[in-house]
Amino acid sequence: MKQRRSALPPASAALLAAALLWSTASAASVPPQDLDARVRTFLDQREGRWHDLNIPAADGRILFDLIVEHGYKRALEVGTSTGHSGIWIGWALSKTGGRLITIEIDEDRHGQAVLNFEEAGLAGRVEARLGDAHGLVPKLQGPFDFVFLDADKEWNLSYAKDLLPKLAKGGCIAVHNVYGRGRGWTREYWDFMSARTDLETRVETRSVGGLVLSFKK
Ligand SMILES: C[S@@+](CC[C@H](N)C(=O)[O-])C[C@H]1O[C@@H](n2cnc3c(N)ncnc32)[C@H](O)[C@@H]1O
Repeated sequence: MKQRRSALPPASAALLAAALLWSTASAASVPPQDLDARVRTFLDQREGRWHDLNIPAADGRILFDLIVEHGYKRALEVGTSTGHSGIWIGWALSKTGGRLITIEIDEDRHGQAVLNFEEAGLAGRVEARLGDAHGLVPKLQGPFDFVFLDADKEWNLSYAKDLLPKLAKGGCIAVHNVYGRGRGWTREYWDFMSARTDLETRVETRSVGGLVLSFKK
């Protein structure tokens, strides 16, 4: 029988495995002051170079402030893409001691996001899941106190209906890209969320891409 040959000699394979283990462990345990510098450097180096439908940095900053101000810890993102918003959310969670689950259906984008979380030093805060959120979201247990919906917009209302029972008191569901879309999903989403008496829903007017925030009373 023909034996399968490893592409690397055993010593190199062992070295590679050790290096991978080291980088994973170090990413999960970056001291807070080093982490800030690492995330800032990462974001600075990539400024203006996010091209996978990622949110603008100004909106990332809004998400960051929201999470830190409210002390949110259990975060969910639907629509990771290559991880720009996930980096801002994960960075904020490093201040509150929280964690993020983020879901992406596209394998290449998911893979790039995983590398980006690692490089930014946030791999220990972010669990990146590859899959279709239509199937994954209803199965999530929760509770969550921060949810960012930024995937297939026509499904936002369905995601929100699934997630509202799993949203903690005081928690927030944020949806992106509401400007310039006064009909269709935005109207339907807005009408449903703003009519609910257990929610306080408003547009975050400082947002570049358009954010609607709904807080559970
Ligand atoms: C607007 S982009 C997300 C940008 C990301 N939040 C950021 O700012 O870096 C939307 C992403 O949602 C993903 N997506 C669309 N439908 C999805 C689904 N059903 N499940 C999971 N991801 C989905 C797309 O592949 C795309 O990468």
